[in-house]
Amino acid sequence: MRRREFVVGALGAGLAASNVLDSIIPGAPAAGGTASASQLRTAIPFGAAVRVDYLADQFDYKTAILEHCQMVVGEGGLKWIDLRPTRDDFVFDQPDRLIAFAEANGMKMRGHTLAWYGAMPDWTQQIASEAEAEGELVRHIEMVVGRYKGRIPSWDVINEAIADHPTPDSPYRESIWQQRLGKRFVELSLRTAAAVDPDVQLVINDYAIENPTGQCRAKREALLNMLRDLKDRDVPLHAVGIQGHLLGDQEIDKDGLSRFVEAVAAMDLEVLVTELDVIDNKLPASTYDRDQIAAATANDFLRAICDVKRPGAILTWGITDRYTWVPMWFTRDDGKPNRPLPLDVNYRPKALMQVIEEYTRVPA
Ligand code: XIL
Repeated sequence: MRRREFVVGALGAGLAASNVLDSIIPGAPAAGGTASASQLRTAIPFGAAVRVDYLADQFDYKTAILEHCQMVVGEGGLKWIDLRPTRDDFVFDQPDRLIAFAEANGMKMRGHTLAWYGAMPDWTQQIASEAEAEGELVRHIEMVVGRYKGRIPSWDVINEAIADHPTPDSPYRESIWQQRLGKRFVELSLRTAAAVDPDVQLVINDYAIENPTGQCRAKREALLNMLRDLKDRDVPLHAVGIQGHLLGDQEIDKDGLSRFVEAVAAMDLEVLVTELDVIDNKLPASTYDRDQIAAATANDFLRAICDVKRPGAILTWGITDRYTWVPMWFTRDDGKPNRPLPLDVNYRPKALMQVIEEYTRVPA
């Protein structure tokens, strides 16, 4: 039995009534039998960002996803740049193919992402007024969340809303939504998504909160302030996505990250690890050394989170070093290929995969 089937089987076993299962895999199938408490505690679902075109024509890639993942998220496909080539068009080909793959293989699919500053088609720069921005954002969310209602159980509604260097007077990152609507684009997006699908897990997703730097401390504080404001005003919100694009050459602020997770949990919010990978551009040339450092960094990161609250899922941003976004921004001076993900370019598990399995496997 493949690890994935065992985990889903153990999780699905007799947990239908428990809300724990919904916090693990919202809407997971019920099944007979019972999972042990220890299985429940350690069976954190694992998933990966997927390039859906490769599922069709790369056997090894598809096999790796089937072998290791209980969840998938489109690396693309549900971003405005892919979905909305023009103001009047919605192109659902990629997410339709990915949801079909997920459902055919007993996997859950996450939606990424509804409101982001990045990957926006040029026409959105023509959105000129607050009223026009509200109309376009609401229409987009209603069309997209509505299409996958009951099939995508968890959405990154808001992605990277906090500025890279937030200040108390200016915590939010520039985007067409923030420029036209101010911070209310966050509440508008969450309320619209909840109105379309009351059962969907609404997630605010961000990055660079895990290091002992002034920037990370400022981002943690700004993100917590936003979350508290939303919760105080009863804005629908269920979870925080910690992306986890870890800088391999920087230590993890284990106390700072644990305190952040404590504060999130105190707001009755779930935690997800949504885009884990280890950026190794400043690590030693030796692949063995890099892999060991990457694994140790990821372990510190996951330990700091899991010691406080069990994440609802752990997803990496890709499954194999063969296909990763990292060299888009973080190439190595020595020209060697990056090694950020759990499997190497030939789909062989690395030390990072062993660390992830320590947190996601179900004990024998
Ligand atoms: C990246 C994809 O991996 C690239 O293929 C694409 O060109 C740009 O976006 N944080 C996020 C993701 O939330 O959506 C980004 O994905 C990586 C950083």
